[in-house]
Amino acid sequence: MCEVEDGDYVDLGKKEKRERLGRTCMKCKEGAAVLIIRVGDAFCKSCFKDYFVHKFRAMLGKNRVVYPGEKVLLAYSGGPSSSAMIQQVQEGLGRDTPKKLRFVPGILFIDEGAACGQSWEQREQNVSEMQQVLRKTNFPFHIVPLEQVFSLPRSVLQSALPVNPKRAENYKQAVDRFLGQQRAHREDELSGTADGLAQLRVTGYEGGNVSGYSRPPTQLTSALTDMLRSARTLTAKLELLQSLRSHLILHVARTCGYSKVMSGESCTRLAVRLLANISLGRGAFLPLDTGFSDDRYGDVVIVRPMREYSLKEISFYNRLFNVQTVFIPTMETKAPENSSIQHLSESFITKLQADFPSTVSTVYRTSEKLNISRTEFAEENVHQERCLLCMCNLDTGVGEAASAFCATQVSQHLSQKSLRNNAVATSDPDQQCCNRGECYERSPSCSSSVPRTQDFMPLLCYSCRVTVKDVTSLSALPPYVMQEAEHRSRRVEMRREIQEFLLDEGC
Ligand SMILES: *[C@@H]1O[C@H](CO)[C@@H](O)[C@H](O)[C@H]1NC(C)=O
Ligand SMILES: *[C@@H]1O[C@H](CO)[C@@H](O)[C@H](O)[C@H]1NC(C)=O
Ligand SMILES: *[C@@H]1O[C@H](CO)[C@@H](O)[C@H](O)[C@H]1NC(C)=O
Ligand SMILES: *[C@@H]1O[C@H](CO)[C@@H](O)[C@H](O)[C@H]1NC(C)=O
Ligand SMILES: [Zn+2]
Ligand SMILES: [Zn+2]
Repeated sequence: MCEVEDGDYVDLGKKEKRERLGRTCMKCKEGAAVLIIRVGDAFCKSCFKDYFVHKFRAMLGKNRVVYPGEKVLLAYSGGPSSSAMIQQVQEGLGRDTPKKLRFVPGILFIDEGAACGQSWEQREQNVSEMQQVLRKTNFPFHIVPLEQVFSLPRSVLQSALPVNPKRAENYKQAVDRFLGQQRAHREDELSGTADGLAQLRVTGYEGGNVSGYSRPPTQLTSALTDMLRSARTLTAKLELLQSLRSHLILHVARTCGYSKVMSGESCTRLAVRLLANISLGRGAFLPLDTGFSDDRYGDVVIVRPMREYSLKEISFYNRLFNVQTVFIPTMETKAPENSSIQHLSESFITKLQADFPSTVSTVYRTSEKLNISRTEFAEENVHQERCLLCMCNLDTGVGEAASAFCATQVSQHLSQKSLRNNAVATSDPDQQCCNRGECYERSPSCSSSVPRTQDFMPLLCYSCRVTVKDVTSLSALPPYVMQEAEHRSRRVEMRREIQEFLLDEGC
């Protein structure tokens, strides 16, 4: 439970320090200690490695969600934590022990260069650096530009039935069923009846031996920068990016047949995100957002196997065992600390850690104590209303009592009113409001498929509404979001229309 408290880590890397302390490893009683964790537990290099590797294996073992032979996508950023994660998977698959990991990994790196204003030359250079590192893993890899969110299909935003719908079955039954499904699927493929999904490819950027990373179409790059420009605050930009990035990961996982995604957040990172997410109004989703496994998409499950390592512990491991990391700038790394809620949370946690080392794990452990009544996935509630952006169950059906929620709605209402008044004053109001993506009053001349703000907002959870409120133009959002919004609001409208023809349940 992230019990390694950062402040208690002592590096005995310097020779004179080691001699001064004269410690031997408390585990094997032989090796010279290279570091001390917790109060006085001195570890030698090899025992530290055992401890680190064991923790990873134990995390997967305890939770029992990954099946033998299952395709698992490792989300990689180049940073210390996801680099250590890949290293652990390599260790685990390579070992010839009964505890050998048995899943089939692939790696995904998303090139977000366009979001932080890198030139194509810089991105190309970063990507080729990345390719060199990834090639050494011998795992298949995918490098996908973030721009690709502007060509995603609407279906990304639909939850699907889980591969493993029955929570009640035990691990062995689940594995047996998984293997049965795999076999059936392979037979389908052999007889040529496999459906389209398995054969879909992520266009052009499939890794492995492809050395040319082709430049995404410039109109997609400018669509991305326009979207970010239309977000008024850095907080909103980062939230938007977070949502779109997860949709892209989900899309790659689905089209390439991965049913699990491993995400490498350390407990330090999770504590930061936890605090940020609470501040952003995502309290209702904390268990899903920070837990070991996250099944909000249904068919693809996100797992976080690094959540019990602190960043310090990971840096130690990487340094001692020469794990290569790749520094790629992102929007998060560039801004000053007081520029967004996310950055503020980060600097708060960092300072807290320096002065009160054990608080970080306390923050993090608090999240473990939270439960929501998770909706069990079943045929009948797959179509339950989910937030269009973060895909969590809508938390907005709370009535008048939730004051923050009401306040947003009221101010939303007022700003729409003033927009309407302004629009009336212009010469061609319909045209203008459509171009700005604020067609609150659809008229026949509005041919654009941008939904009205008042139709769009109800499709979002509280937190995403707050984010979208800071986006000046809905039409800047990627087309698949708009199309799915259109689709959902049309469905709501249709349901309302046929309501009067339906018989009451009670009759
Ligand atoms: C990526 O590009 C940035 C400049 O935009 C540079 O600072 C960084 O070192 C590069 N990283 C790699 C691994 O090439
Ligand atoms: C914060 O919220 C985002 C969704 O916007 C989610 O993807 C992320 O996992 C959350 N992180 C934590 C630590 O709560
Ligand atoms: C952000 O911090 C910098 C220095 O740390 C300071 O100069 C600046 O005024 C701060 N901005 C705001 C909006 O507080
Ligand atoms: C939370 O979940 C744990 C285990 O899943 C359970 O024992 C506990 O009763 C739950 N707490 C609440 C308040 O539902
Ligand atoms: Zn030892
Ligand atoms: Zn949401």
